[in-house]
Amino acid sequence: STPVPSEMPSPSPSGPPVLPISEHEDEIVAAVEANPVIVVIGETGSGKSTQLSQILHRRGYTRRGAIAVTQPRRVAAVSVSRRVAQELGVSIGEEVGYAIRFEDRTSEKTKIKYLTDGVLLRESLSNPELKQYSVIILDEAHERSLNTYGHLYVTQIYR
Ligand SMILES: Nc1ncnc2c1ncn2[C@@H]1O[C@H](COP(=O)(O)OP(=O)(O)O)[C@@H](O)[C@H]1O
Ligand SMILES: [Mg+2]
Repeated sequence: STPVPSEMPSPSPSGPPVLPISEHEDEIVAAVEANPVIVVIGETGSGKSTQLSQILHRRGYTRRGAIAVTQPRRVAAVSVSRRVAQELGVSIGEEVGYAIRFEDRTSEKTKIKYLTDGVLLRESLSNPELKQYSVIILDEAHERSLNTYGHLYVTQIYR
């Protein structure tokens, strides 16, 4: 059979899976609505990296601007964005994309953008208020601060 490139959209979107984070969707959206910054703490695999962006996208946060999700590592920006694109049944560079150093796979259509800290920092130099984004999700935030939360992993959302 013909090998299908991993970036081709699946024939039908797998759809967002039901994960531990799913039952907290309303709570998360209410917290984002009421606060300029929130911190989401949950175990590995609970859905922070792949679901938070999709939740906010579904709830209208991409009507004005895109959602940025920063990753400390390039490989994560690529692999998580591919997973989200697959769940939504779109090709990378359409509604879901990524930007890492020397590789920008986004377009005007892109509403959910995974990027490295370095790329976001560079974008902030030319656009200090980062107005192109309605929300910035700093994933793996525990890796960038002195705070530790034991074995739990932290995602911060800036609106
Ligand atoms: N590339 C992938 N292929 C298959 N399943 C995946 C992939 N990425 C994530 N998942 C599924 O989605 C769940 C949530 O992953 P993720 O959003 O990365 O969680 P977290 O960021 O909270 O660790 C995982 O438990 C796994 O079941
Ligand atoms: Mg994660």
